[in-house]
Amino acid sequence: MKDTPPRPQWQTHIGFISAAVGSAIGLGNIWRFPYLCYKDGGGAFLIPYFVALLLVGVPLMILELGLGHKLKSSAPISFASVSKNWEWLGWWQVIFVNFGIVLYYSVIIAWCLSFFFFSFDLSWGSDPDTFFFKQFLSMSKGPFEIGNVRSPILVSLALIWFLNWLIVTLGVEKGLERANKIFIPVLFFITFVLVLWSIRLPGAKEGLSVYLKPDFSRLKDIKVWMDAFSQIFFTLSLCFGIMIAYASYLPRKAKIVRDSVTIGFANCFFSIFTGLGVFSVLGYMAQSTGKPFNEVVTQSIGLAFVAYPKAISLLPVFSKVFGILFFASLVIAGLSSSISILEAFTSSIIDKFHYPRKVVVSVVCIVCFFGSLTFATQGGLFWLDIVDHFITSYGLVLAGILECLLIGWVYKASLLREHINTVGIWRLPSIWDYSIKFITPFVLIIILISTLLKEFAAPYGNYSPLAVIVIGRDWLILTIILAFIFASRRGHS
Ligand code: TRP
Repeated sequence: MKDTPPRPQWQTHIGFISAAVGSAIGLGNIWRFPYLCYKDGGGAFLIPYFVALLLVGVPLMILELGLGHKLKSSAPISFASVSKNWEWLGWWQVIFVNFGIVLYYSVIIAWCLSFFFFSFDLSWGSDPDTFFFKQFLSMSKGPFEIGNVRSPILVSLALIWFLNWLIVTLGVEKGLERANKIFIPVLFFITFVLVLWSIRLPGAKEGLSVYLKPDFSRLKDIKVWMDAFSQIFFTLSLCFGIMIAYASYLPRKAKIVRDSVTIGFANCFFSIFTGLGVFSVLGYMAQSTGKPFNEVVTQSIGLAFVAYPKAISLLPVFSKVFGILFFASLVIAGLSSSISILEAFTSSIIDKFHYPRKVVVSVVCIVCFFGSLTFATQGGLFWLDIVDHFITSYGLVLAGILECLLIGWVYKASLLREHINTVGIWRLPSIWDYSIKFITPFVLIIILISTLLKEFAAPYGNYSPLAVIVIGRDWLILTIILAFIFASRRGHS
């Protein structure tokens, strides 16, 4: 158990970029970004969005890639080399994603896979709303009424976990690199076809105009700016320990700055582009049903599982093909993100305890499969909503603040900058230090305070305060306890 094989390495540069872009591009790009853009000033939203990308997104990406590259280890071990007292932070990041986000994210990918199959005969019929919530999920009345595990989800969920297991167990080169080198071009191709198809539909023009028509007055609202910054963290897979692990497999000569810019922009352009398709489809739906636009527009689950199915059924030709392509794109975007966190957690365990990869991945996938069943129950959607709120609004933000303070101040940003400049070609200017030491933590603290104020004003999402505490807060606390346990164990050498 103790002879560890040499550290794996990406075989090609494009393999690494595909994997990082694959992690960044996820469901959030397709079902959240376009809606944010519409809600927060249309084309004008691109200003805060790109400001957020340049001011904190790319700098933090540079930090994570630089750190992983320099220390050649996953997040916990990297943080431990900075200061032993901070190892827990690395564990916390990979744990709250692996035993939080991925558990419900995999259930959503499973729904997408089921809907991929439903597309073959448009099984949702004329009322996708009832089909999804009542027939497919058979939702209970509230979070404390869990009910049974839904068998239609179970098969897809098992398949998704099998794929997760297969890819990650095959390792960095044979699994993640190969899979992403297929996933990313296929995803881009499907998205391209769907967007071209959608923008020719009648009504698409009106849809696109509400999506992108700039309303600059919205930029005065601080909430618009906070939306932009929060979306950037989540969409770029930052503060999840993922980019640190991925960069630890880079060869010695690495173009950290250039790659960070490439990954950041590829992700954001994908979001904008895919939004063209989403809003064309919504525009088409508004026109064919004769409803005003604000009644058809939605995001996340409502968009993918109610609005899109409705629109697909309305298509005059090849509607099934459209459905198949759309849900395939969601499955691919989701899978390439879920394997990235599994890798981040797996490599943390391997780095510290030196167990064989196969064993680690198998145990993790089995545990996660059973864990994800919580969200595949009749009360699962309530749990998903609450856990997601706590992990992304508090876990992610808090982990980001601590990461910046640790690397910016304890480790010293300038030290990392020197390393990045000795191995790469694009020079990283010293203003980068300011983003890490001041701007990013400042922005995150503002976001955290504002979420806390909202939280105390009214419990999240009209759930009972008990549900919010027991399901949301305690789930998050549990991940912190686990993080301390992992950090306190002695590793094998
Ligand atoms: N970036 C993804 C998105 O926009 C979210 C994400 C990042 C994610 N890393 C992940 C989801 C790991 C699950 C697991 O949707």
